[in-house]
Amino acid sequence: MRQATPTYEMLRAAFADADSDLPRYRVLYQAIRESILGHRLLPGTRLPSTRELARELGLSRNTVLSTFEGLLAEGFLSARAGSGTFVAQAAAAPRPRGRGAATGSGERRPGAVGTLPLSQRGLRLAEFRGGSRFEIQPLCGGDVDFTLFPIKQWQRLQSRQLRMARPELLDYAADGGYLPLRQAIADYVRVSRAVRGDVEQVIVTAGTQHSLDLCAQLLADVGDRVWVEDPCYWGARCIFESCDLKIEPVAVDGDGMNPATAPGASRPKLIYLTPSNQYPTGVPMSLARRRSVLELATRERAWILEDDYDSELRYSGRPLASLQGLDTEQRVVYLGTFSKVLYPGIKIGYMVVPAPLVEPFRSALYDLQRPGQLTVQGALAEFIERGYFASHIRRVRQAYAETRALLVDALQPALGDAAWISSQSAGLHLVIRLPDRFDDQRLAESAAAQGVRVSALSRYFIGAASASGLVVGYGYAPSEKVARCGRALAQLLRSAL
Ligand SMILES: Cc1ncc(COP(=O)(O)O)c(C=O)c1O
Repeated sequence: MRQATPTYEMLRAAFADADSDLPRYRVLYQAIRESILGHRLLPGTRLPSTRELARELGLSRNTVLSTFEGLLAEGFLSARAGSGTFVAQAAAAPRPRGRGAATGSGERRPGAVGTLPLSQRGLRLAEFRGGSRFEIQPLCGGDVDFTLFPIKQWQRLQSRQLRMARPELLDYAADGGYLPLRQAIADYVRVSRAVRGDVEQVIVTAGTQHSLDLCAQLLADVGDRVWVEDPCYWGARCIFESCDLKIEPVAVDGDGMNPATAPGASRPKLIYLTPSNQYPTGVPMSLARRRSVLELATRERAWILEDDYDSELRYSGRPLASLQGLDTEQRVVYLGTFSKVLYPGIKIGYMVVPAPLVEPFRSALYDLQRPGQLTVQGALAEFIERGYFASHIRRVRQAYAETRALLVDALQPALGDAAWISSQSAGLHLVIRLPDRFDDQRLAESAAAQGVRVSALSRYFIGAASASGLVVGYGYAPSEKVARCGRALAQLLRSAL
């Protein structure tokens, strides 16, 4: 006899709404499952027999049978011999409790971070929002320009790797990365950065953020102190926060981080440095300072994390040698990346770790990450081996030197005693220093109102800001647009000072 239950109505409606591309058993499965999870089919409800359901919905009995089997296996339904099929008692999702309970939609109300159901660490990270607030963007905004990157060559190398389809390149990346890439990196950093170490010490990662995360996890425990430069690279700070390390800001002066200003009792476990081009001030660390930090690390048995993020981009004089190359005590982990010089989304970086750390780092990388992307690593190895990397570096170095020169020319009318460029001629941004305590945040806001995107130097400080200025990005941007925005910025500076 025909059973006109609400179950049929519900299921018919589900069929009417269903995407016509979905197989019919999938529509029936979803309709029953959603009705149970949504409390429309309650635990204990008896479902019509498979024969009746098939007839009512115009489905084959096999379709209904296989749907029921799936739902029985997943615990949404239970079968009682001789009595039929029922909604299982444990199947329904718990009902949300109280008004305003989580809807499951992942809704986030801006400005209400403290009310989110996050861990203490999660709350700190959600508050931080570093990328959007601190990332140095080209001052002219709009579309970024990556036309310098030889995309055709890169495509050919990647396709070649995929065409060869070597099985070992489709596996996880063990042993710290693809050997030919590690070899190419070892040769490159030895020659161009005076880094000491052999191919075994090179570990390929998914970029510097990833390298820093591994270092923080393997070399420090919760609550250990990490000295960071003040002002500091926000990305590193964020990683250290996420590993529950105690961040100790140490002042940067014209020679780089000055350990003499660190709090007396502070004994660091990690010291994070950007010695070739301090981020964001653009100051290189002097040799005397490098020596004193190395001595301190040896004395305290601390690890130095040397973030050498953009050393290829130096526009006057020879590239500075790495700090790691001066280290005779194996206290430095050297971190490099292809993000700046190739393109940010490539997400390939590397570490050169002291020999005793090779095995622990390799195995932690494998266990924590299950790294892969060996075909991309293969393409990059070839890109370096064939000399394309070296010519690309020459090309970008020249192009960025020209863009920087155009920007400096455009800013010239505003420069003088009250505003001066304090960063070295390197990297993808420059720093205009302003008189101490000048309200650089207001100036950055006025620039933004005119479509010129600059960051206030004072915002990068962890402690009280001891300098005021503007951080002005010119990377990945067409030079004529950079020059135009530079002129607008110069006018703004002149009227503000
Ligand atoms: C100081 C510093 N280190 C490292 C990086 C690069 O990080 P990643 O390799 O994770 O892209 C950046 C990028 O902005 C940076 O500014």
